[in-house]
Amino acid sequence: MACGCSIFNFCRSFAIYLPIFLSIFYVLDKNILPKLYIFDPVKLQELSQQSIELYGGENGNTTLLFEDLTGRLQKEYGKKYVADLNHEEWVFNNAGGAMGSMVILHASISEYLIIFGTPLGTEGHTGIHMAEDFFTILTGEQRSVLPHQVEPMVFKAGDQNHMKRGDGNQYVLKGYALELAQGWIPSMLPFGFLDTFTSTLDWGNLWKTVYYTAKHMIGQMLVGKF
Ligand SMILES: *[C@@H]1O[C@H](CO)[C@@H](O)[C@H](O)[C@H]1NC(C)=O
Repeated sequence: MACGCSIFNFCRSFAIYLPIFLSIFYVLDKNILPKLYIFDPVKLQELSQQSIELYGGENGNTTLLFEDLTGRLQKEYGKKYVADLNHEEWVFNNAGGAMGSMVILHASISEYLIIFGTPLGTEGHTGIHMAEDFFTILTGEQRSVLPHQVEPMVFKAGDQNHMKRGDGNQYVLKGYALELAQGWIPSMLPFGFLDTFTSTLDWGNLWKTVYYTAKHMIGQMLVGKF
């Protein structure tokens, strides 16, 4: 009896609070979140293309390309929002069956900007995220497909692959990309972390990933960027 009663109470509270939570979420999602964005995907592609022009291609130098691009991003958005490219902060990322390396240039509640990729090549599921994803190829190539597509979409250096919120692709990547995500960034983190528990058991790498993510996010909060 007591048990049935508390289930009833729980259901009643749920029925009352769920619409309230959903309304709050709707307002945050539609009206507040987009106002927090500072990065412009078109501008990011433009700056990427300028760095590729100088340091991309066969005789290019990927290290110099990354450094040049970071400099351009800092000039455009300010060092307050774009961190120096710290080569100590590269970490592996295993997610959706794919493996690559990443380094964080910006992370906040509403956006992240990272360099992600691998010179070896990898393949997997992008994950389904509550964020828009803009993937600007810097070196090499990405191919991706939706389930019904029998011909892949192909993206080469300078191209930008915009994956809409809620979409998931199968992808192959050999090379590096500048990745901008805009949306509910904390909701994306489990996808980036969970393979450690089910597959890699690379705890040192997990610790570094969590540490750098927290460091960048808290740093942004301190300058008023959420
Ligand atoms: C690229 O540039 C860096 C920094 O100047 C240098 O250390 C590295 O050897 C260069 N790599 C290639 C492949 O030329």
